[in-house]
Amino acid sequence: MAQEGLPSINISASEGQLLHLLALMSGARRILEIGALGGYSAIWLARALPADGKLITLELDEHHAAVARRNLNAAGLGAKVEVRVGPALATLTAMQQAGEALFDLIFIDADKEGYVDYLQKP
Ligand SMILES: C[S@@+](CC[C@H](N)C(=O)[O-])C[C@H]1O[C@@H](n2cnc3c(N)ncnc32)[C@H](O)[C@@H]1O
Repeated sequence: MAQEGLPSINISASEGQLLHLLALMSGARRILEIGALGGYSAIWLARALPADGKLITLELDEHHAAVARRNLNAAGLGAKVEVRVGPALATLTAMQQAGEALFDLIFIDADKEGYVDYLQKP
């Protein structure tokens, strides 16, 4: 992802394996991620989903989101994963107002100042 100009702030491979295992063990069918970057952690999580599972990942930066979509498509996960662009709090509020289904598992890996607000969203 460095060649795409993205910072090297993605999770490590062992952290990805742990996330994958947690998602499998929990039997999650709907996963929310906050902070997509280039889609690396989303790939680990989405690979644990059942065939009809869904992961929505929220990303502030258009370029990061475009790289994430490209990587997710290359990993064959384009149909299972949706990348939504915008400030996560605004996206979460819109999702809540639209009455979107709740999530079985949430991975927050974005701006640290926002975490309390993200946690207070149901
Ligand atoms: C640590 S990186 C995510 C790494 C990714 N989870 C991975 O391991 O592959 C944090 C990401 O959160 C995004 N971000 C920062 N503030 C955000 C916000 N308010 N809403 C949504 N995304 C945000 C950044 O643009 C960056 O791409």
